[in-house]
Amino acid sequence: MDFLELAKKRCSTRKYTSQKVEPEKLEKIIEAARVAPTGKNSQAFKLLVIQSEEALNKLTDAANFYHAPLAILTVADLENTWHRSFDGKVISDIDASIVSTHMIMEATELGLASLWICRFKPDVIREAFNIPEGFEPVNLTVFGYPDEPLKSSERHAEDRKTIEELVVTESF
Ligand SMILES: Cc1cc2nc3c(=O)[nH]c(=O)nc-3n(C[C@H](O)[C@H](O)[C@H](O)COP(=O)(O)O)c2cc1C
Repeated sequence: MDFLELAKKRCSTRKYTSQKVEPEKLEKIIEAARVAPTGKNSQAFKLLVIQSEEALNKLTDAANFYHAPLAILTVADLENTWHRSFDGKVISDIDASIVSTHMIMEATELGLASLWICRFKPDVIREAFNIPEGFEPVNLTVFGYPDEPLKSSERHAEDRKTIEELVVTESF
């Protein structure tokens, strides 16, 4: 599928069937994460895959993930993340977000629905899944089969700002 077509097709889904994500699809989602670019190719992240009933139950205490059958938490490895020497900015959120984006786009290509979730309780997640010091949960992404009609690819005409509103040419 043409990239722009795929990007317009992706939408946030908040109702899932109980159908599991097939292992071969999960493998491709992980592979899409693996090949994502990161600053200085640090690859300073871990992917916590959550799909057992027990683990999904634990996740319920930390976030509303709409009963999706598969969740992947992108966790930044802060000590190994590249930082900008000029001002010390640590780019862990940027790295984690390109990784999460790769996974979501691959899932869309595979016919899965998805949702990106940042509204989670970091302390609860850390405790429940034994995330050590030096690692920070950044993005929770969930995947599955939709139990509601997917949003239209045409929605961006109304749902998004116009190009004129977004683009500043040459200088602010
Ligand atoms: C960084 C990020 C964080 C988000 N966090 C949440 C969240 O915690 N809960 C939720 O229901 N949706 C969350 N979303 C989904 C957005 O609300 C959604 O992408 C946006 O409204 C545009 O809708 P669309 O994804 O259907 O195009 C998040 C999206 C992004 C990119």
